Amino acid sequence: MANLFKEFSVRNFKFNNRIVMAPMCMDYGNEDGTIREWHYIHYVSRAMTGLGLMLIEATAVEKRGRTLNKDIGLWNNKQMEGLKSIVYKSKESGCAIGIQLSHCGRKSLLTSEDIIAPSAIPFIKGSHSPREMTLKDINEVIDCFREAAYRANIVGFDVIEIHGAHGYLINQFLSPLTNHRKDHYGGTVENRVRFLSDIIKAIREVWPKEKPLILRISAEEYDEKGNHPKDLADLINLLDKDLLDIIDVSSGGVTPTTVHSFPGYQIIFAEEIKRLTGMPVIGGGLIKDPFIAEEIISNNRADLIYIGRELLRDPNWIYRASELLKAKAQFSSVSYEKAWKKNLD
Ligand SMILES: Cc1cc2nc3c(=O)[nH]c(=O)nc-3n(C[C@H](O)[C@H](O)[C@H](O)COP(=O)(O)O)c2cc1C
Repeated sequence: MANLFKEFSVRNFKFNNRIVMAPMCMDYGNEDGTIREWHYIHYVSRAMTGLGLMLIEATAVEKRGRTLNKDIGLWNNKQMEGLKSIVYKSKESGCAIGIQLSHCGRKSLLTSEDIIAPSAIPFIKGSHSPREMTLKDINEVIDCFREAAYRANIVGFDVIEIHGAHGYLINQFLSPLTNHRKDHYGGTVENRVRFLSDIIKAIREVWPKEKPLILRISAEEYDEKGNHPKDLADLINLLDKDLLDIIDVSSGGVTPTTVHSFPGYQIIFAEEIKRLTGMPVIGGGLIKDPFIAEEIISNNRADLIYIGRELLRDPNWIYRASELLKAKAQFSSVSYEKAWKKNLD
């Protein structure tokens, strides 16, 4: 059987296969951070194809943590209702469902909001500068992550992914390019990881022991003075690994650099993080060909594979992959199964 279609377990929690839908902002939420019916259709129809794990897009833990006022959020109870409907229906197909909790810090484009960051350095030179966070701001944001995690559990999510990548607020603390603080949240590696470490502990206070917690990182910042995979591994190795289960390895987004991308361009970073931290990893980046995905899993270069754009282009990618790899797909109806058979009886 193809390794891509084999089960994977952490904390006694079982993913039906190794295929993860990458978190992808749909830029289509209501202004109050609630989802539209459109999101329901988008997510439930993909869950029905039998993914191992479906990650819901970056979901802001507070209002000022949104990039745009089309981002969805989980900073109040009203926002839970729509998400509950997605989770309830998606779970019928056996797919694990996760939510990516996020705060974009200085990457917010909402000039109406109080834009905060570890240091007052704008994303683009000459553009609106964020305000340097006080210790009170830091504690408030940590509380927001705890409260959003509490809601995520009530909504029924199986997994939380912390957005620590792409130059979002947590990444801004981790990176020497964006964190110039002189207090105990800046400077040394131990200080730069403290904000993330506090967030993980706060989430675990309310997120059940049996449910997996994933951290997404940018393992390469594409700047000589920024973080590289070894730096990220050093940062991760300072965290309490009993609280964290999987590292989702992405790259870039800390500064406005163009990345040279090609199928599997970030797998080398995933391999490095896996080797240096000993933790399971999700790898990906422009993966379209099921044989490439199978090679990565079979050679133990990553434990799970995320697929982003290809699942927007072809929601039925998983059926195509199972046919090519001669694996058994999880069809949600007999008629869907018939669509992949040559002879109809
Ligand atoms: C439309 C779109 C929205 C995205 N939104 C998010 C997001 O909300 N959170 C995140 O961590 N990454 C986001 N990403 C990055 C993807 O998760 C993924 O890492 C990236 O697209 C590379 O994978 P791919 O080549 O398979 O698409 C987004 C990408 C796309 C194309």
